[in-house]
Amino acid sequence: MQLEPRDRLIVALDLSSVEAAQAMVAKLGDTVSFYKIGYQLAFAGGIAFAHTLTAAGKRIFLDLKLHDIGNTVAQGVKSVAKSGASFLTVHAYPQTMKAAVEAREGNLRILAVTVLTSYDDADLAAAGYDFTVPELVAERAAQARDIGVDGVVCSAEEAVKIRTIVDAKMALVTPGIRPAGAEAGDQKRIMTPAKAIAAGADYLVVGRPILAAPDPKAAAQAIVAEIARAKT
Ligand code: C5P
Repeated sequence: MQLEPRDRLIVALDLSSVEAAQAMVAKLGDTVSFYKIGYQLAFAGGIAFAHTLTAAGKRIFLDLKLHDIGNTVAQGVKSVAKSGASFLTVHAYPQTMKAAVEAREGNLRILAVTVLTSYDDADLAAAGYDFTVPELVAERAAQARDIGVDGVVCSAEEAVKIRTIVDAKMALVTPGIRPAGAEAGDQKRIMTPAKAIAAGADYLVVGRPILAAPDPKAAAQAIVAEIARAKT
């Protein structure tokens, strides 16, 4: 997959209002071409804002982690496609993935969330699964591949293993990225941008290291420069 370094950075707009998101997008300017909108902003006017950003030439990742009966997922995916978004997440359940893949249209690509990164083996057991996290991640990545999903959201640590399961056409999108010296926050499995790229990540999702930086544009530029220097 040949991508410009700048286009591999996805900035998570984890902000509480469209005004705050607009101000951040203005600060970042041409340094950032791709934004992720999750629950916090999506439910505060962020879907309409996604239309504004796509109309202005930005790419959008709607991190809505859909999961419902097939028909409901399919209708939701059709509506999301109209926003011009490039990526949409769904939970990696076969019915859900199949419905989303069949309903996608236009620019929209479907990403599967295998196992949430906040889950450990005990959380899976409590939810009724008889799998460890690595086992379930591998099983769901293989199902995503077989169903024709376009990519997988995974920790950079998981990327090497997942790349052995899915082919190069599938995008690996990795959060939990921290430039050397940055605060981990609540992320348990973190990697630097260069290491994540070397591990096989196609896109890096970065929130707080940019949003909370004294100079967000400089922080984003430093990450893009690190991506450009990284060995793939
Ligand atoms: O601020 P930070 O860089 O940790 O933000 C990471 C972003 O990636 C957040 O929006 C978070 O919800 C998202 N994410 C994640 N782990 C996942 C899926 C999404 O951290 N497994």
